[in-house]
Amino acid sequence: MIGKLNHVAIAVPNLAAAAARYRDGLGASVSAPMALPAHGVTVVFVELPNVKIELMEPLGADSPIAKFIAKNPEGGMHHLCFEVDDILAARDTLIASGARVIGDRAPRIGAHGKPVLFLHPKDFSGALVELEQA
Ligand code: CO
Repeated sequence: MIGKLNHVAIAVPNLAAAAARYRDGLGASVSAPMALPAHGVTVVFVELPNVKIELMEPLGADSPIAKFIAKNPEGGMHHLCFEVDDILAARDTLIASGARVIGDRAPRIGAHGKPVLFLHPKDFSGALVELEQA
């Protein structure tokens, strides 16, 4: 069921500074910032040969990562995103195995224009997991 690691997401307090560090310090190719009001974040993607790094900054007062940044003022590792072929089948298998899907369990359109879901960190050894339909 599980496919490639699509991205590792890092929540950051200052997106421009974090993007500059990857671009200028590491020589990485970094996408233009993209505001995702439905998700309460602004993101850039750092394109590596084998995986992407998603840098996310809170957007708006109700950002779901505002609390995370309050607890981790320098930023921190936020989630892993795995690709799946069929997100509804993956969700149903996970629910049947006792895993918890965050929110109303309905996939939403994520930063790549594809359906995504989030799985509870308590079921994945403390790591928040995003599934994205490839
Ligand atoms: Co993500």
